[in-house]
Amino acid sequence: MAKQTVRDIDWAGKRALVRVDFNVPFERGTNHISDDIRIREAIPTINHLREAGASVVLCTHLGRPGGKPDAELQLAPIAERLASLLATTVDYVHDAPGDDALAKANALQAWQVLLVENIRFWEGEEANDPAFAQAIGRLGDVYVNDAFGTAHRAHASTEGVAHVLPGVAGLLMEKEITFLGGVLQEPRRPLAALLGGAKVSDKIKVLERLIDHADALFVGGGMAATFLKAKGLGIGKSLLEPDLVDFCADVLIRCEAAGTTLTLPTDVVIAQTLEADVPTRTVAADAVPDDWMILDIGPESADLFAKQLSAMGTVVWNGPMGVFEVPPFHTGTRIVAEGLAAGTAVTVIGGGSTAEAVDALGLADEMTHISTGGGASLEFLEGKVLPGVAALQDKP
Ligand code: 3PG
Repeated sequence: MAKQTVRDIDWAGKRALVRVDFNVPFERGTNHISDDIRIREAIPTINHLREAGASVVLCTHLGRPGGKPDAELQLAPIAERLASLLATTVDYVHDAPGDDALAKANALQAWQVLLVENIRFWEGEEANDPAFAQAIGRLGDVYVNDAFGTAHRAHASTEGVAHVLPGVAGLLMEKEITFLGGVLQEPRRPLAALLGGAKVSDKIKVLERLIDHADALFVGGGMAATFLKAKGLGIGKSLLEPDLVDFCADVLIRCEAAGTTLTLPTDVVIAQTLEADVPTRTVAADAVPDDWMILDIGPESADLFAKQLSAMGTVVWNGPMGVFEVPPFHTGTRIVAEGLAAGTAVTVIGGGSTAEAVDALGLADEMTHISTGGGASLEFLEGKVLPGVAALQDKP
């Protein structure tokens, strides 16, 4: 069922309580935001509300402070970046459920923006405590959820408050659901899923879902090692999930039965330790020596993946092809990303490390959609109902 959005509300004179996901990364040990895409992606919703005559109270989490205040996770750098992106002042209050925040929210004029403190400084948030949801619900007349990246969490500010105030989707939430939902509902075919990252265990459910749904699966990254093992190949000292070898063997059989092609790397880049610029070798996937480990797909595989994927109708990609953050094991991911960028497929990129890799390669603008949600995009593709979405009002 489609959900109501900010476009369905008459905002004149109303206070919008907006849950955003400003859980952004910082350069280590500094106050400098290293990637502000989640803040930039929320700007259209904030400006839509302001232009429609609302005052805007923003609420987000940052990190995992575990229900108590943490000076390192206060939101001052975020308030500052937001003010610069909006080209307006952003008031910031070190409170959310209390009277300080309420007084500030009530004093806002239309167009004005208030950011309340990191919502995970209070235990009631992650516990989805109804009393806490009531307290933060006092800050708005209508609730807007634009935090797709946190929509898989049933917390007070993502789910509970939608039972206190009428809840609608923000424009980012709507965009994410349109693109990710499009992959599941009516993709331009052929539909390929490109899966990578370290572990099969993170991708079990999405694999289960995509076997019947996709026309082709491509598997790279650390998780390819367990698949290669399931095919009876030696994988040296590569990361192996022994408990999942049978699952991978079963996936191979089920793909064949469903007519879904599953492509694994035919060559791999190996090293003896996982460190930048150590000696490496490129070998066939069936020739990994005992004391070496697979750290990237090889050039032949990367070219093959890139060529085949670029000719697909739609590609949904979750997980890098190698240990992207440690050069030279970023090369497979780079070649595949460049192939997708140059091709004609609709490209839907999962958030988290895949989004970071595409961004670091300077190819973000070449992709159709890059999700702002890591865990959330994966759970959505698994077919799970996201509690933060389910709690919003249905369209009539
Ligand atoms: C994310 O970064 O994936 C979201 O902000 C959710 O964060 P969490 O995993 O701490 O709930």
